[in-house]
Amino acid sequence: MSRSTKELPAAAPLDSHTCDGCLERREVLVRAGLVTMGVAAAGVLAACGGGTDTPSEGSSDGSAGESSAAAGGALAQVSDIPVGGAISATDADGKPIFLVQPEAGTVVGLSAVCTHQGCTVAVDGEELACPCHGSVFDLTGANVSGPADKPLPAFDVHVSDGAVLAGKA
Ligand code: FES
Repeated sequence: MSRSTKELPAAAPLDSHTCDGCLERREVLVRAGLVTMGVAAAGVLAACGGGTDTPSEGSSDGSAGESSAAAGGALAQVSDIPVGGAISATDADGKPIFLVQPEAGTVVGLSAVCTHQGCTVAVDGEELACPCHGSVFDLTGANVSGPADKPLPAFDVHVSDGAVLAGKA
């Protein structure tokens, strides 16, 4: 260190005597202060580095990208849904739904959460079948058989330029 002791604040009791040990102690205190500042600066830089890494971790989360795309985008294209049939999809929150096309150009949405105990119902030909306890629903959501005693709730959708969008038109 090339620091001179003249830069140090005047400490009358230490300057008034000739104790070499006191000067060494003062130099030690100065050096300790510089080391502390260096460690603190390194900590700040490390924290900044960590902050830079955080967004990249967030952007690598596939689910966040899917949610935002689903929130502002189409649930499906009408052409993806067979006339007289249904496809499985998910809403903007990732909940399972069905998109049914009972006649060309008309799309109806249904929740795919079974009204019995909440399993996800699947498309099974021209019916919707729950894999858990065997409830079966038709393409309007009405129960056909099984322990579920309520129909599948409607999920509002509308068609715009060939795309199926969430919500009423
Ligand atoms: S949860 Fe679907 S039939 Fe039981």
